[in-house]
Amino acid sequence: MIEPDLEGHTVLVTGSAKGLGRALTLACAKRGADVAVHYHTSGDDANEIAEQARREGVEATTVRGDVTDPEAVEGLFEAIEAELGPVDVLVNNVGAFAPEHWAEMDFETWQTVMETNVTGTYLCSRRALSGMREAGWGRIVNVGYASAEKGLINPKNAPYFMAKSSVLMFTRMLAADTSEQGITANAVSPYVIENSDEFPEDLPRGRPAGFEDVIQAVFTFLEEGSGYISGTNLEVSGGWLPEDV
Ligand SMILES: NC(=O)c1ccc[n+]([C@@H]2O[C@H](COP(=O)([O-])OP(=O)(O)OC[C@H]3O[C@@H](n4cnc5c(N)ncnc54)[C@H](OP(=O)(O)O)[C@@H]3O)[C@@H](O)[C@H]2O)c1
Repeated sequence: MIEPDLEGHTVLVTGSAKGLGRALTLACAKRGADVAVHYHTSGDDANEIAEQARREGVEATTVRGDVTDPEAVEGLFEAIEAELGPVDVLVNNVGAFAPEHWAEMDFETWQTVMETNVTGTYLCSRRALSGMREAGWGRIVNVGYASAEKGLINPKNAPYFMAKSSVLMFTRMLAADTSEQGITANAVSPYVIENSDEFPEDLPRGRPAGFEDVIQAVFTFLEEGSGYISGTNLEVSGGWLPEDV
């Protein structure tokens, strides 16, 4: 098990009221981090998770905000800074998926997928970086998608593929831009996670990734001594390859 010591760090996992974000936030609290539980609509879940985190003996606060809205992002970072101090570990976990053919989906769906994945990651990273630069230390982990990492083209879910490919490109750009500042930026890319609505037949090892599998990948980048690992993407797919490759 990879078990980083996160005492003294302030972690923001976006979209941490549910799913992977929830599990990751609690795992960080268990390893000593103060945590901001971020939500958009799931306030009750967020409060419950903050309560659970506090039982680990760490500070926890809840923050609300739409990650696609610059003012909301500014507001949620200010709230975290007032309660816990600057965020020095950011996991851009919020994502949106739409299983529709690109030519048939309405414009609003297209925008939601692109903005939630790409604009949200950009806005939160940009805001977190100011504090990280001041501290001379920071860790950013972006959640991608294994199919996007393999450069596949699927007209059915095109915006999601495009958005997650952009997230990977942005990760590399962030890494290059912060290489002299004690900050790293990396990505983790699952194929299918345990909370997915659908489980395709081609799952390697006969199962989706558990939250713990993805957490292990994220923790790789939070371990002491990982400061030279930046600009990479760690796939969490059990070795998945599409059948026709
Ligand atoms: N699930 C999978 O099989 C799978 C596979 C590959 C990659 N991924 C990626 O893994 C990450 C986590 O997936 P997940 O399935 O655990 O996530 P999820 O449950 O779909 O979403 C996590 C949270 O994101 C929040 N959110 C959505 N839009 C938002 C916005 N505009 N502003 C702020 N928060 C917003 C929601 O918060 P509220 O509930 O508070 O509204 C939601 O609870 C995503 O990036 C996803 O693309 C997932």
